[in-house]
Amino acid sequence: MKTFSFQRWKMVVLPLAFGIHPVAAQSLDSAVTHALTFAGKQLKRTAAEVVDSLRFPRSTLADGTWRTTQAREWTSGFFAGCQWYMFEHTDDPEFKLAAQRWTAGMVEQQFDKGTHDVGFKIFCSYGNGHRIVPAGEYQKVILQAAQTLTTRFNPTIGCIKSWDNRKWIYPVIIDNMMNLELLFWASEHGGTKRMRDIAISHAEKTMRNHFRQDGGTYHVLDYDTSTGSVIARNTHQGYADESVWSRGQAWGIYGFTMTYRFTKDERFLQTAERAADYFISYLPSDHIPYWDFMAPGIPNEPRDVSAAAIAASALFELSTFSKEKSRQLGYLEKAKKILRSLCSAAYLAQGTNSRGILNHAVGHKPAGTELDVSIIYADYYFIEAMMRYVRRQQGMPKADDR
Ligand code: GLY
Repeated sequence: MKTFSFQRWKMVVLPLAFGIHPVAAQSLDSAVTHALTFAGKQLKRTAAEVVDSLRFPRSTLADGTWRTTQAREWTSGFFAGCQWYMFEHTDDPEFKLAAQRWTAGMVEQQFDKGTHDVGFKIFCSYGNGHRIVPAGEYQKVILQAAQTLTTRFNPTIGCIKSWDNRKWIYPVIIDNMMNLELLFWASEHGGTKRMRDIAISHAEKTMRNHFRQDGGTYHVLDYDTSTGSVIARNTHQGYADESVWSRGQAWGIYGFTMTYRFTKDERFLQTAERAADYFISYLPSDHIPYWDFMAPGIPNEPRDVSAAAIAASALFELSTFSKEKSRQLGYLEKAKKILRSLCSAAYLAQGTNSRGILNHAVGHKPAGTELDVSIIYADYYFIEAMMRYVRRQQGMPKADDR
């Protein structure tokens, strides 16, 4: 029979005596280990339930099962990405098989000229696959996808067009920064110099036009195609044109940190830091942002774990780039605090009916869709943030080495 050791007594009884919940008292290492184990179980369960690798989990329904989509939606690459990360973490062939199946289901997306999201779609699926298990045929798909994305670039404006067929003439959204990773990577791996030039031009224009004085970002900018000037600054998924949508701000931190990774241009590092400082200054006490920093009903507004997970992952990387020690430590500590909160019972979907990993994400509040549910991209960036944390704990200096 196992004895109740003094060690265990200290772990369980002391925190309770002092009114601390055992999860809160857990080290971040064990909280992350626990959350990664849970993530693996949920991903295996989802693969077994969804079965069809031409259907892609997007967000959960009231009964906890996934609403799935076709490959053409912007979220389709994240499920394969989650499986690739778990394979990387565990070496379990079941994850590899699922990753390969749901990656193969994305193949036609390399030719999708209708959206900037070809970057999210192909780089999270094929990009992770090629990074973890290098394969010539995957690289070909990534290079074709990058070529496809370049067709959306307008040199007069200097940006990639984000969306077609909306109310704007030439909409560019802050989220679009994320799709530059495909171009930067492709340019260094058999693609063209033009891919990198386009990515840099897009980042420069976004840095100049999407940011306010205080470091907050606009969601959607509309451009005049004949002059290249900004016609309007609006929102689509945020509360108001002049508010700051928290996921958009998180895309900004991540996008400029990644752009600095590829360019080592200090202007992009400073922009990432401005975006991060703004995001951090608006976090409530549990470090998980409301869906919009200016949502009128705060504190009775939904949180968005997707914004938290994206920002946490980005802050782990940013903390390795900042020049001053105090900034490095500040970003690292904040990333850990967000991660700890995400791993807690308040946000982990464990014990609920959700097939997702995190609960309490918001997709599109103004449209009234995907409110306070599990969303696949929240899970993806949560796993990525945990992997970046684990790698740091193992002494790997760089947060990301794609
Ligand atoms: N890129 C779309 C979104 O963040 O909802």
